Amino acid sequence: MPKTVFVLNGPNLNLLGQRQPEIYGSETLADVQASCAALSAEIGLEMRFEQSNSEGTLVDLIQEARTAADAIVLNPAAYSHTSVAILDALKAFDGPVLEVHISNIHQRESFRHHSYVSLRADGVIAGCGTQGYLLALRRVATLLA
Ligand code: DQA
Repeated sequence: MPKTVFVLNGPNLNLLGQRQPEIYGSETLADVQASCAALSAEIGLEMRFEQSNSEGTLVDLIQEARTAADAIVLNPAAYSHTSVAILDALKAFDGPVLEVHISNIHQRESFRHHSYVSLRADGVIAGCGTQGYLLALRRVATLLA
């Protein structure tokens, strides 16, 4: 049975490619989804890719992952720095959680240096651009093997 990974994206990531390209690059979220789908197929993972601007929808998706996914790759975007609700939802999920940030949050404003999600994440990838998603998927495959 192939293992399933949810790749979840938080607020404003729907604007990837248009939003501050000097920080986040020129790739769109659809490009990231296509790369994640290609790599998942190559390494034998089933992947579901979602984006929401709403904290509650992200909590619902993480709760759904409790029964529908083996691992979560999550770019919580701005909710990283604010959301106890997303942290609590992740604490109710048993599998590996990989946190991804396209930019190096530690090189940016101090309010981005703390992530609630990191308290639960098994690994954190920051500053590797959109390649961070692919690194996270490879890590998921290793952890689930
Ligand atoms: C981000 C970093 C966050 O601080 C920011 O709010 C984002 C994107 C990143 O991918 O680098 O929206 O998570």
